[in-house]
Amino acid sequence: MPINVHREVPVDAIEEQNRIAEFLRPRLRERFHTPNPLAMVHTFGCQQNVADGEKLKGILAQMGFSFTGFPEQADLILFNTCAIRENAETKVFGNIGNLKQLKAAKPSMLIGICGCMTEQSHVVEKLKKSYPYVSFVFGSHSAYLLPSLVQCCLDEGKRIFRVAPDDGCVAEGIPAVREEGVKAWLPIMYGCDNFCSYCVVPYVRGRERSRRPERILAEFRELVETGYKDITLLGQNVNSYGKGLEEPVDFSSLLEQLNAVPGDFRIRFMTSHPKDCTHRLIDTIARCEKVCSHIHLPVQCGSSRILKEMNRHYDREGYLELVRYAREKIPGITFTSDIIVGFPGETYEEFQETLSLLREVKYVSLYTFIFSPRPGTKAAKLPDPVRGEEKGRWFRELLALQDEIGLEQMQPYIGQTVQVLAEDWGKVGDGLLQGRTESNLIVEFPGEPSLVGQFVQVKVRSVKKWALLGQLD
Ligand code: 5AD
Ligand code: SF4
Repeated sequence: MPINVHREVPVDAIEEQNRIAEFLRPRLRERFHTPNPLAMVHTFGCQQNVADGEKLKGILAQMGFSFTGFPEQADLILFNTCAIRENAETKVFGNIGNLKQLKAAKPSMLIGICGCMTEQSHVVEKLKKSYPYVSFVFGSHSAYLLPSLVQCCLDEGKRIFRVAPDDGCVAEGIPAVREEGVKAWLPIMYGCDNFCSYCVVPYVRGRERSRRPERILAEFRELVETGYKDITLLGQNVNSYGKGLEEPVDFSSLLEQLNAVPGDFRIRFMTSHPKDCTHRLIDTIARCEKVCSHIHLPVQCGSSRILKEMNRHYDREGYLELVRYAREKIPGITFTSDIIVGFPGETYEEFQETLSLLREVKYVSLYTFIFSPRPGTKAAKLPDPVRGEEKGRWFRELLALQDEIGLEQMQPYIGQTVQVLAEDWGKVGDGLLQGRTESNLIVEFPGEPSLVGQFVQVKVRSVKKWALLGQLD
């Protein structure tokens, strides 16, 4: 086991930050000339980032901030960034560029950049050189230090860069400001040890480390008591949860413990790595009535040769066997996946193997990406002879096939009654509610706003791309 893994940040270090946060309140009110300073946290990227953003908001609230979604109102702007593909980084730089005028008009404004992008030296250099109005930059390992970073910024009146190398720590006890509603994200582990050859995550988020089960259980109970009804357990590879913890616990036993918590709620999880998705886990999902019958099981591609090049540690047959086993044990289970098109050296014939795998598995939906070379990863150094336009054509072929398959998967629901957790996705004014079935299908139906947050029965009348349309039963 690597040293330093699974250490929690000492309680007194967290308390020290709480004290600094309190102490900063009057100073920030004074700096921004307002009794009610406003912060905007803009999160890019995955759900893990969303969960980190909720903790960052928790810390900012301790510092006395309320929140706004409008940059022109904000006294402090924090960009919580994503590095997974080049276009994600380009988007963030574009957004930072747009802040130049705002900062010029309001010099007291503080601008912070954090998250995955900041753990890369080429990004830090660019921020130092080309974005002088950025006040402070920190990586995800230093997020709990936000109060002292802001304090440094104020005391020293200069730009602060705190991009520490991976310290392998888990910071507990930080309050989260969650979106109010029915769904909540709950990180159970951080980092990734898999080193898929295309992926930057292990470099920017550091080594895999799990939270202690009792910490997760306590936060989970709190969420249930607060009224959250759809709780998603988060990690880059939840299937390897528990490795290196002193107490013997794996993801299956964690699910069992959470499933035993009393209440009316659903448990979801993401992401599952196929190499660690065991029959024992599938049997557990089958047994636990609150665990949803849907697995996000990224296959990435359908060719065993490319899977080896990707360092995924499973092959096409192994993946398909897993899907067959899960279908046998969990009736009605659905699958979603991530697909990368145009990995270096992938041929059109190998890409066709991805399409044939899609036809076999019949995913209900997909997250699809064109390969993007990330600095420092193994795949970025491989020869990549297929041109961008060609990859674009393959990509469109993939989308067209998935549209067909997705629609086909939804047809059998017509006439059936499904249970939906009613949510407000912004059409409540038109009398429309949305939500998801246990198997993660989207359902749209007419209903009163008062139903939001309740489990309702909906009879499916028709389907459209992405959604089942129905009426309350
Ligand atoms: N290029 C394209 N897609 C990528 N992903 C990760 N790294 C890359 C990359 N370099 C995709 C994978 C992963 C998802 C979160 O993002 O499909 O599962
Ligand atoms: Fe990236 Fe692979 Fe880790 Fe997922 S499992 S975060 S794709 S290295």
